[in-house]
Amino acid sequence: MMLNDKVQEAINRQINNELFSMYSYLSMSAYCEHRQFRGCARWMRLQSQEEHSHSMRLYDFLIARQGRVKLQPIAQPQFDFASIPDVFQKALEQEQQVTAQINKLYEMSFSEKAFAALVELEWFINEQVEEEKTARDIVYKFQLVKDDPAALLDLDRELGARPADATAAE
Ligand SMILES: [Fe+2]
Ligand SMILES: [Fe+2]
Repeated sequence: MMLNDKVQEAINRQINNELFSMYSYLSMSAYCEHRQFRGCARWMRLQSQEEHSHSMRLYDFLIARQGRVKLQPIAQPQFDFASIPDVFQKALEQEQQVTAQINKLYEMSFSEKAFAALVELEWFINEQVEEEKTARDIVYKFQLVKDDPAALLDLDRELGARPADATAAE
């Protein structure tokens, strides 16, 4: 059974939202590089790749349901930030926005009785719980560390040790 136009359009919009997240994290990564926080930059770059894999999940879902993928322009992400902790604060806020987008999409798919979409979106609901928690944990760590240079360097090293996600390359 094909998806109706309304659900298809909404999933296309979410593909764009995930690609914007990809772009936004990449811009955050570039800022961290600029500030010489290589560990944070690596964390953000890997996160950018993860967002790409999210967009591809929806892309593949649309194709599996005989939908049409319609790519839209990706908006320009934020270029400058107040500080490294500010970057992670912005990342947390972005994840909260994405959670709201996913919830809206889920609600709409429910009212449109798009049951396969609901099952697919459940993965995203779980993922957002994880994404928000991860970002919040890092924001808290920066709050603890404050301006202590040695602790900041440790935290940068810790974030740089994030393993490359095997699923991100899919
Ligand atoms: Fe995402
Ligand atoms: Fe995310």
